[in-house]
Amino acid sequence: MAKKSKSTDKAQLTPESHSAFLPVDSFDLVVFGGTGDLARRKLIPALYHRFCDGQIPKNSRIIGTSRSDRSDKAYKDEVHKAYHQFSSGEDYDDKCWDDFASLLNYVALDVSDEKADWDGLAKALSQGGDRVRVFYLAVPPKLFVDICKGLKTAGLVTPNARVVLEKPLGTDYASAKAINEGVRFVFDENKIYRIDHYLGKETVQNLLVLRFGNILLEPLWSNRAIDHIEITVAESIGVGGRGSYYDGAGALRDMVQNHLLQLLCLTAMEAPASLDADDVRTEKLKVLRALRPITKDNAPDDTVRGQYARGKVDDEVVADYLTDVGVDDSNTETFVAIKAHIDNWRWAGVPIYIRTGKRMAERRSDIVIQFKDVPHSVFGNAKLNANRMVIRLQPDEAVRLWMEIKEPGAGGMRLKSLPLNLTYADNFTVRYPDAYERLLMDVVRGNLSLFMRGDEVEAAWKWVDQILGAWQDTEQRLELYQAGQDGPDKAHDMLARDDNQWV
Ligand code: BG6
Repeated sequence: MAKKSKSTDKAQLTPESHSAFLPVDSFDLVVFGGTGDLARRKLIPALYHRFCDGQIPKNSRIIGTSRSDRSDKAYKDEVHKAYHQFSSGEDYDDKCWDDFASLLNYVALDVSDEKADWDGLAKALSQGGDRVRVFYLAVPPKLFVDICKGLKTAGLVTPNARVVLEKPLGTDYASAKAINEGVRFVFDENKIYRIDHYLGKETVQNLLVLRFGNILLEPLWSNRAIDHIEITVAESIGVGGRGSYYDGAGALRDMVQNHLLQLLCLTAMEAPASLDADDVRTEKLKVLRALRPITKDNAPDDTVRGQYARGKVDDEVVADYLTDVGVDDSNTETFVAIKAHIDNWRWAGVPIYIRTGKRMAERRSDIVIQFKDVPHSVFGNAKLNANRMVIRLQPDEAVRLWMEIKEPGAGGMRLKSLPLNLTYADNFTVRYPDAYERLLMDVVRGNLSLFMRGDEVEAAWKWVDQILGAWQDTEQRLELYQAGQDGPDKAHDMLARDDNQWV
């Protein structure tokens, strides 16, 4: 039986919760796509912060690779400049950057060239002994398998080597399966780290703690007490400079197949036996497999596709999608809403509405658990609202549980909904590490819990492929919405038909 502990007012930090700052062993990390957007915006800054917190030993090596020739110095200058361009500058320290930069090297390697010379990379990695070797593939997925083969042929896949695959993992089920098979030809499944950076977000990890660290919620966490669930990942940005990738992908592939389905899994899965990678991933897989297929029969009612038109975001006029991407016409969705069902005992009859979009009113990710009405009101005509829990993932991280309270006052009985309000800002003063900081250190430590297993990714693609197929069969229309609005009206109609509304 779990030992009872006294509750205290202040959050207690156990040694376990400090482990994020325990140093890892020295390692070598090669970033394919080392000059790309992800490396410059996220990976190098994340490594810099982990280094400054003393987590990365000084004799570790970080090697950026890409096609073009440049010196180590030019590479260091380039990523330094990018750091200042993309990071807030909070916690920046010149001396620490200089020390960190001594870990950085650059090797030119054209991985798309069959005759590529891998010697430079082999040389840069020599004398690393049996230390952990991480190959981070921040490149388009069509290169994944070739790079893995190249690594194998060049004899660089040591027993302690592992590979990180950045999303998107293919463009559909067939391509994802082919990637999985090709990569597994070189790396065992337990050496493959498929990144979904949402899993590295503090508030997403907190979903596990909220659900499985509190006895209060579990008895209510099912169709017995929950009426419906909403998951919103809204962005105010447009597609910016990523048009050529995005126009071939769209919101369903870019956001739903990975981030939204992962949020749905963590919200709906059964309690895993432990936080071991396979325990967690097996429970998520069960959810994905229980998702009711969306077919041409239900797609017109249960899905909405939208594309942003010109409008105003934060009082600034912004262009439409076509202008952003520089095309005359496009059938790509920048918004998608889906009414999903999980066909199992726990969730039968509970609609799970998910939506995501670019150029919406504000950047906001929420999971809303809408509880049912009380079975019988003893308050006569007084309006009684059902309880609601809102888990704000970003920004202004918080958990709010809306309760009914008696409004003070003599005579009559007036009820009011007020939230039990647990905000991160009020309770924690630490800097929240970027998701990549956590995930990169987990790769070095060999902890796969926050990474997707191959079968999970394939199951997610299967569900998404059916939706894409249904849209094609029914020629489902693209609804325009003005930039700065929360998606097309049809997305609101979808919930209104069930007497619900987006929160
Ligand atoms: C990426 C998508 O995976 O996630 C982007 O490709 C999206 O289109 C981004 O903007 C959102 O991530 P975050 O962390 O800003 O919510």
